[in-house]
Amino acid sequence: MERLQKVIAQAGVTSRRKAETLIEDGRVKVNGKLVTELGTKVKDNDKIEVDGIPVYREEPVYFLFYKPTGVISTVEDDKGRKAVADYFHHIEQRVFPVGRLDYDTSGALLLTNDGDFANKLMHPSYKIDKVYVVKVKGIVTKEVIQKLQRGVHLEDGKTAKSQARILSIDKQKEKSIVEITIHEGKNRQVRRMFEALGYPVQKLKRERYGFLELTGLNSGEYRELKPYEVKQLRNEAVTQKSKK
Ligand code: URA
Repeated sequence: MERLQKVIAQAGVTSRRKAETLIEDGRVKVNGKLVTELGTKVKDNDKIEVDGIPVYREEPVYFLFYKPTGVISTVEDDKGRKAVADYFHHIEQRVFPVGRLDYDTSGALLLTNDGDFANKLMHPSYKIDKVYVVKVKGIVTKEVIQKLQRGVHLEDGKTAKSQARILSIDKQKEKSIVEITIHEGKNRQVRRMFEALGYPVQKLKRERYGFLELTGLNSGEYRELKPYEVKQLRNEAVTQKSKK
């Protein structure tokens, strides 16, 4: 038995909090009966409807995907480009990405059909570490690293403090490789941070999402998360929220 609002959120209809409002507003039926009480628990075979539309319930699944470059992080692309969902066609469940990576960015991306889990992880108060390896044009100096760490002014505000370090410098080719750890999710954030400091990004890869690394995966491959990994991500989301 699960709480009704959790089941609605898990099905990807909306967040758990909004699901509670839907219930209180009398928009949810269980087995044809209006339910307005928040604590209501439902069984696997109970039929749930929101605004008369059946809520499609699936077994929740969670994957860590090594996204290649040249793939869009949406379920479908209107320009016909390859999408992450194309790698998951043979999976029975309809999974979607948790957040996004740019078309040209490779690396760790989570996919799930659990809307509640995805909402939790994408909540701005959930400060999960995202570690990127960035290849840029130009010689990155210690001062640049300090600026990245303090935060960079972008058109949509200053970025939060980050951790950054130089991995290698090629003086002849005038290229640098830097590792940067951020926990925000502004659009094209890493690229814009480096560009704002005069370093065009040539290659970007997300090496780590929280404690999840790409070890054992080749580009284009994925693996199912272990139950303890899902639990740990959920727990971290809760802990971060309560720290706020
Ligand atoms: N920052 C970027 O610039 N691009 C990504 O895909 C992720 C983070």
